[in-house]
Amino acid sequence: MGKGGGCVVSKNKISKSSNSAKKSINVPSPIKNLKIFIVFYSMYGHVASLAKRMKKGVDSVDGVEGVLYRVPETLSEDVLVRMQAPPKDDSIPEISSPSELVNADGFLFGFPTRFGCMAAQMKALFDSTGLLWKEQRLAGKPAGFFVSTGSQGGGQETTAWTAITQLAHHGMLFVPIGYTFGAGMFDMDSVRGGSPYGAGVFAGNGSKEATETELALAEHQGKYMAGVVKNLVHG
Ligand SMILES: Cc1cc2nc3c(=O)[nH]c(=O)nc-3n(C[C@H](O)[C@H](O)[C@H](O)COP(=O)(O)O)c2cc1C
Repeated sequence: MGKGGGCVVSKNKISKSSNSAKKSINVPSPIKNLKIFIVFYSMYGHVASLAKRMKKGVDSVDGVEGVLYRVPETLSEDVLVRMQAPPKDDSIPEISSPSELVNADGFLFGFPTRFGCMAAQMKALFDSTGLLWKEQRLAGKPAGFFVSTGSQGGGQETTAWTAITQLAHHGMLFVPIGYTFGAGMFDMDSVRGGSPYGAGVFAGNGSKEATETELALAEHQGKYMAGVVKNLVHG
């Protein structure tokens, strides 16, 4: 095929053409704006703090945008009051229907642990994706996890890796962070959540907030995931 014969307009042709010709040439944008949905459940705010910082990491990559979503609460108001759960952050929208998930180019799912596995609120979202599963609408989409646990040994790793079954059945691609955070992964100076499976925070008895190291790992995961998604889509 000759110069300019394909869908890519040659640089010469654009720069030498007249103004009127320029107006008529519709130069296709080579970069699609990619969306990574950061979908999380957080009862006391620890997972939410990682999610917000993760968005910063995603947004730092050209052509990729992080979109925050909360998953709907499943507990009654009465139970939430007894658990001393603070009000939810209404500035972040709830995911209104599982069908919205098909609009994402990739996912970062965040959830606190419940007995070493994902919280039921997040599982309820996955359980509502039966129709998407039937048509394998999420197959091939990359996804990562981030978690919160109260204690060390409380499920930083099990909470993420037991969630992998959700991705496997959908044919989605699990994207762990491995040791891409570098030396920070070996830092023993302070108690730090997170693992090769994804970012994490230790909530302690609830009063401990995410440390800067935990937030930095979350930001790294967002940036890393954005790079992976970009490579998968654009090659
Ligand atoms: C029913 C229930 C079960 C929990 N199970 C565990 C557990 O197995 N291991 C652990 O470390 N923390 C456990 N926790 C503590 C939560 O993981 C902690 O509250 C959460 O990580 C805080 O995250 P959030 O602020 O985003 O809600 C549990 C909490 C509840 C309410």
